[in-house]
Amino acid sequence: MPHVFPHRHLLGIDPLSRDDILFLLDEAEPWIAFGRQARKADQRLAGLTQFNLFFENSTRTLFSFEVAGKRLGAQVANFHPGASSVRKGESLIDTALTLDAMRPDVMVVRHSETGAPHQVAEAVGCPVVNGGDGTGEHPTQALLDALTMRRRKGRIDGLKVAICGDVRHSRVAGSNIRLLPKLGATVRLVGPAALLPADTGGLAAFTDLDEGIAGSDVVMMLRIQRERLEDGVAGSLADFHARYGLTRERLDRLAPDALVMHPGPMNRGVEIEGALADDPRRSAILEQVENGVAVRMAVLDVLTRGRRGAA
Ligand code: CP
Repeated sequence: MPHVFPHRHLLGIDPLSRDDILFLLDEAEPWIAFGRQARKADQRLAGLTQFNLFFENSTRTLFSFEVAGKRLGAQVANFHPGASSVRKGESLIDTALTLDAMRPDVMVVRHSETGAPHQVAEAVGCPVVNGGDGTGEHPTQALLDALTMRRRKGRIDGLKVAICGDVRHSRVAGSNIRLLPKLGATVRLVGPAALLPADTGGLAAFTDLDEGIAGSDVVMMLRIQRERLEDGVAGSLADFHARYGLTRERLDRLAPDALVMHPGPMNRGVEIEGALADDPRRSAILEQVENGVAVRMAVLDVLTRGRRGAA
């Protein structure tokens, strides 16, 4: 029996079953080869309208959702909060209701407030995708991370994944911590005590980087989120790099096929050595970006099937 995706929105990982996640990864896989073709035009979303509402800055997520929608034939419109009536004090929900009155078929929402996309989803009449909410979740990032691991390592079940750095403020960690165990991976959290979550949800946590990454198949480095940090929490950036920066020397103590990942944007020389990030034999960072387009095409396709009368 073909899997039927039972969710109207994609707001977080918790509602997704293992089969839902594997279904989205399988749906994304062919879009990677499609993206490498000279012509990248599919018309399955032709006539549909996609709104991207990014209340917080983005390069990868915003641009890849726009590219994904356009490659599928959708009409894509990007809402720019800084040039909008948000600047006159219009609320998030009034903004969402106003845009919803223009009858979009799908909305992608990024916001600095945790839970904002969920509020929008309650108010509007179309599927909503969480493009990253505060310190909450970033579900399409976790999906593209899982797809990247599966392609590079051949499996996710049984992998040992260390998520390192500013875990407490990371919505990427928030979604990966939920997703990877559903697919059978073991997740460890590594970072200074002040940047680890107060509740690790039963996951092993380490404040020593070398101890925390020992034996890992995948080392996922996270950005120090200066915009969400209280002053002084991370100490100086040089001190942070000395204790928590992933360097080639540190990675060389792991298995030769241990994979480095980072959701971006990177702070080169802080949480990761620039030359290591640029080494495609060890680093999958640009593959993550490529796979992000494929995952977002799959998500847009799957969430709009009901509206298109597609199976
Ligand atoms: N990984 C990620 O969310 O990057 P952007 O902030 O550039 O979208």
